Amino acid sequence: MKKKLLITGSGGLIGSAMVEYFCTQFDEVHGIDNNMREEFFGPNGDTTSTQKRLKETYKNFIPHLIDIRDKEIESLFKEHHFSAIVHCAAQPSHDLAAKIPILDFSVNANGTLNLLESMRQHCSDATFVYLSTNKVYGDQPNLLPLIELKTRYEYKNLIDQSGVKESMSIDQCVHSLFGVSKIAADLLVQEYGRNFGLNTSCLRGGCLTGPQHKGVELHGFLSYLVKANTQKIPYTIFGYKGKQVRDNIHSLDVAKLVEQIFIKPNKGEVFNVGGGKSNSCSMIEAMHMIEELSGIKMDSSYSEQARVGDHICYYSDLNKIKKHYPSWDISVPLDKIFEEIYLQSIKKLV
Ligand SMILES: NC(=O)c1ccc[n+]([C@@H]2O[C@H](COP(=O)([O-])OP(=O)(O)OC[C@H]3O[C@@H](n4cnc5c(N)ncnc54)[C@H](O)[C@@H]3O)[C@@H](O)[C@H]2O)c1
Repeated sequence: MKKKLLITGSGGLIGSAMVEYFCTQFDEVHGIDNNMREEFFGPNGDTTSTQKRLKETYKNFIPHLIDIRDKEIESLFKEHHFSAIVHCAAQPSHDLAAKIPILDFSVNANGTLNLLESMRQHCSDATFVYLSTNKVYGDQPNLLPLIELKTRYEYKNLIDQSGVKESMSIDQCVHSLFGVSKIAADLLVQEYGRNFGLNTSCLRGGCLTGPQHKGVELHGFLSYLVKANTQKIPYTIFGYKGKQVRDNIHSLDVAKLVEQIFIKPNKGEVFNVGGGKSNSCSMIEAMHMIEELSGIKMDSSYSEQARVGDHICYYSDLNKIKKHYPSWDISVPLDKIFEEIYLQSIKKLV
């Protein structure tokens, strides 16, 4: 029997990185993407060129222009027995969700349910990996005591300095509507593992990034920052004096973790996945890094108003992953991530 992988959101940052990583490991890699990123973010979010490039590069990549919410999903599962599914399709923006709450919820929550149920009916032996988000913790991480340093905030207590753990509560705090639609999906993925015994895992991402990101102002922190710098687009910092901290992980390291989960699946497990402390930076620090690389000063301004539910300091504790998958670690350091995004960004300009 052919070994088949299904990747949803295959035209997006993480989905396309998964296609590139796994095409050599599976007989067929099926991708679902209906280019909704363009509907969400306009022409700059268009992912059709990525789908086209993948199709031209990988003979065993089979793209499908389907909406994850549609009935056609079940037909695809009836036609193909998938041994693994990586679910990356989403409305991914925290800020945009408030403007389109019904669409956001239907894509993130209903779309995930549609996929899980198709898997349960047609390939219950498969492994399902869901790209969740650290926004499921809402603004709970902001309750951790902090200290203010010159260019960033930092956790005050030593115990917190290994990063945010999966044991943090996801309840009774402000999430943004995006956080809520992603929690609904995250809980569904856990439930299909714990209740129905399927192989399911949630990866609660920090800032997932890489040179293929089609960064737009509302989604894709580093990618958009680099774009704003190299194209001299005015950049707004929202709140926290620009000292808010994000942890950044290269899409290659996310793919390597998914590979480990395929080898040793879980039933309803959650993992915090980001760059951890070593790959973390504040807005101010990120701006300095790109200014040094490009030699161009950022055209930035400051708005006192922080984004709803935004984290002041967030980096992931990677210890649970390392305990489950001891051979996995971050392989792309922060300066290399910047360099790759920068080189890709100036390539687009010539
Ligand atoms: N990039 C990040 O920083 C980050 C951080 C945490 C979590 N995540 C999660 O990782 C996943 C992937 O994120 P990304 O950065 O690659 O996003 P992305 O927007 O680059 O990719 C998502 C893809 O899904 C497609 N899509 C959207 N709705 C669809 C639908 N209804 N049917 C079919 N395709 C659809 C889009 O066209 C897009 O190509 C998302 O679930 C996101 O929430 C991302």
